Amino acid sequence: MSRVTVLDHPLIKHKVSILRDIHTGTNEFRKIVSEISTLMAFEVTRDLTLEEYEVETPLEKCTGYKLSGKKLGLVPILRAGLGMVDGMLSILPSAKVGHIGLYRDPETLKPVEYYVKLPSDVKDRDIFLLDPMLATGGSANDAIVSLKERGCKSIRLINIIAAPEGVEAVQKAHPDVDIYIASLDRELNDHAYILPGLGDAGDRLFGTK
Ligand code: PRP
Ligand code: URA
Repeated sequence: MSRVTVLDHPLIKHKVSILRDIHTGTNEFRKIVSEISTLMAFEVTRDLTLEEYEVETPLEKCTGYKLSGKKLGLVPILRAGLGMVDGMLSILPSAKVGHIGLYRDPETLKPVEYYVKLPSDVKDRDIFLLDPMLATGGSANDAIVSLKERGCKSIRLINIIAAPEGVEAVQKAHPDVDIYIASLDRELNDHAYILPGLGDAGDRLFGTK
């Protein structure tokens, strides 16, 4: 069973509350999504492996550390996942970025895939799959299947807000994928929106409503 880690650091909780607020405008929403993503990157990368090397300070030699494991790949689910990329890249500048385009059909609520472009060596990378919202889990599950079909073996799912239904769906379909979230909300409504949630993340990020 995949692990679910709730990153409830006070700074993250403070910023998630600003995102939820109906009065938060597009500019601030975009900035705060990016800031939360940077804070989440700190925790999601906690188990990356290091190797020692010798560093010469102005005073003496000492042991330094550099990242030694697999290279990283950030894969936002379009559109809303795009809002998380810059915040992650700000502390993981060497990561490559792929894109998976999915939208939820408003009638069926099922995801429809319309675009996939990934780094050529994606199967050799540790993948961070980014989407602010995990509602039914349909989009995340489809994106994970897309990545696995292309050979990816190490995938972590990073969401800002998740519904219990979505977490359960991903855990059931992909027990090998660990999930990192900033908040586990109460439930989905009849239109599969997360309650209390923050509304439509894509629309709030890009000002399309
Ligand atoms: C939103 C969100 C997720 C998806 C979550 O995207 O960004 O991708 O819904 O819902 P699910 O867990 O039930 O699949 P949306 O389909 O609204 O597309 P957009 O980002 O292009 O607006
Ligand atoms: N997608 C969103 O953007 N918000 C939700 O609450 C559910 C799906």
